Amino acid sequence: LRSGPLAGRRILVSAGGTREPIDPVRFLGNRSSGKQGAALARAALAAGAEVTFVAAHLDVAPPEGADLVRVDSALELRDAMVERAPDADVIVMAAAVADFRPAEQHASKIKKRDDTADPVITLVRNPDILAELVQRRNAAGRPQLIVGFAAETGDAGASVLDYARDKLERKGCELLVLNEVGTDRVFGRDENSVTILARDGSEPEHAEGSKDEVAAAVIRRVTRELEAQQT
Ligand code: C5P
Repeated sequence: LRSGPLAGRRILVSAGGTREPIDPVRFLGNRSSGKQGAALARAALAAGAEVTFVAAHLDVAPPEGADLVRVDSALELRDAMVERAPDADVIVMAAAVADFRPAEQHASKIKKRDDTADPVITLVRNPDILAELVQRRNAAGRPQLIVGFAAETGDAGASVLDYARDKLERKGCELLVLNEVGTDRVFGRDENSVTILARDGSEPEHAEGSKDEVAAAVIRRVTRELEAQQT
């Protein structure tokens, strides 16, 4: 049996960027490296948790010791999360889920031919997985802590915080980890700077440093929330 403050807890972590298929060889993707998500999974493992890691596209190795589930698209990620959520004490949605996917996936490679018009890719919205997981948790009345992420541009000034607080309310999760993105500020880098917001209205908490240090701070906060739930 594992030991540590999260011993006996099951944590479901999603990470990486989804890839939305256009045809058998092409996709729409994003710049998420999966580093922060992998660091969160390692921090949870180090704290003694049992970790299921649902990985979309990663630029890094998946965490050793986690139960690994590989997915590609947002729809696959959604199915993987919905299937495993009932067993989790904590869900961390660190994946960069594409907001849109091509409306249709071509069965064969789209050809470039001089005699045809340039192709047009119509996009449709992907489901909001985080919001759905919260709804399902609420409907089932499960004691489960759900952590969302928000990547916003701009500095963490008052307006960004207000925006994040709004998102926290809208999504209905307990914790929201706000990080600032912008040209090469976060994606693929080893450093991160985040603000952890809680729905209980407590003071936002700032954490910065390596993605491992940020992950440790988020996991410490999760541990505190779980302990508070028990009392
Ligand atoms: O709405 P926004 O994309 O900013 O929210 C970010 C949070 O929501 C992240 O935790 C991300 O994993 C999650 N998300 C999701 N499904 C989507 C889009 C985002 O679960 N379709």
